[in-house]
Amino acid sequence: MFTHQHHLRHLLRPEHYTSESHYRAELRHLFHPAWHPLATVGDLARPGDFLTLDLLDTPILLRNFDGELRAFLNVCPHRHSNLTTKLRGNTPRLKCQYHGWEFNKDGGTGKIPDARAFRPWDRENACLRQFRVDTCGDLVFVNLSNNGVSLREWIGPLWDVSSGEHGYGGVYRHAATWEKEFPCNWKVVLENSLESYHIPQVHPKTFKDFPDESLAWHELTDRFTSFRTIPPREFATRVQDWIVRRLGERVTDEYWHRVLHPHTTGSSLDSSRMLQCVFPTSPTTCRYRCLFFTLRGHRRNPLAWGLYRMLRTVAVMVAKKVFAEDAAIYQGVQHGMAASPHAGVIGTREERIYLFQKYVLDNTVGAAELPLVEQDESRGHLTCGARPVGP
Ligand code: FES
Ligand SMILES: [Fe+2]
Repeated sequence: MFTHQHHLRHLLRPEHYTSESHYRAELRHLFHPAWHPLATVGDLARPGDFLTLDLLDTPILLRNFDGELRAFLNVCPHRHSNLTTKLRGNTPRLKCQYHGWEFNKDGGTGKIPDARAFRPWDRENACLRQFRVDTCGDLVFVNLSNNGVSLREWIGPLWDVSSGEHGYGGVYRHAATWEKEFPCNWKVVLENSLESYHIPQVHPKTFKDFPDESLAWHELTDRFTSFRTIPPREFATRVQDWIVRRLGERVTDEYWHRVLHPHTTGSSLDSSRMLQCVFPTSPTTCRYRCLFFTLRGHRRNPLAWGLYRMLRTVAVMVAKKVFAEDAAIYQGVQHGMAASPHAGVIGTREERIYLFQKYVLDNTVGAAELPLVEQDESRGHLTCGARPVGP
């Protein structure tokens, strides 16, 4: 059932998808306060495990220090090199790749080659910049802002479905992570995921048709919206049910999709959990990152192991196929957006987009007049101390 009975206004204008100033406002007021899911606990399972990535133009290094996860700006205070340019690895110490300065878990310096050359020692300016890091289930989140709400407050009412036995982790195991760059504004990708209206046109072979309104439920709030449906009972659904039972889990036959504004979406079937995030990289480009989990269940026998491995392979393949179908449409949407004289319109089936657009406008309106966030704020904080978080 949809909440609205009549079409809705397309609140964002085409220039909201192309303008440099609106992009800057979104970065500061939507993205810098946000928590970003970047990795899984399994990616950083062993002491010394690290990974690096770019988050909103900020190079990040995530590392496990004897069981504590820490996130740093991947920039050395000596002469600005990335500490490492490797995407992931394991090292006994956090050491800069250029001249070998070493750093401890608080971002302070350890061993400095020929340290006497730096007398008198400027301790404060030799610290790594540190970011807040926390976990929810198997997901590792980073926040670029020194202040603001905790991860638990940020996720709010979606905490229970995201953590615990049936969230990300628990009986679901991380199966794959993938990233993709798209030549469109980040909201094009996000909005596409918030409606099932495009299914017959964009996914004619994979899904065939959108669900009837009697089988579609929306929950609409300022911070998040949800969509729930019961997919039609086809051969693939019956196979899924059979596998889920063999892995010792309950069959619900439900499909859920949720968005936590601004940029994090989660979808679930009995057989999988998928977390997707879209990061703006310019007014007209974005990067999409997906953390994909498949059911492992409770059974520990050879059949369950074989089914788990097969499910993992097939589910990742199907998910990537669906993404490729969606991705084929993005460039055309962006190109049309740049030339559009239209106001646009949102149908009742697309009402979650209305809530999303309202969130964007409510949180960026008048943004040009708001004071800029301090440069230091967007590059982490200097204090060599932070709350430890175990993987
Ligand atoms: S730039 Fe890192 S040790 Fe010199
Ligand atoms: Fe789609």
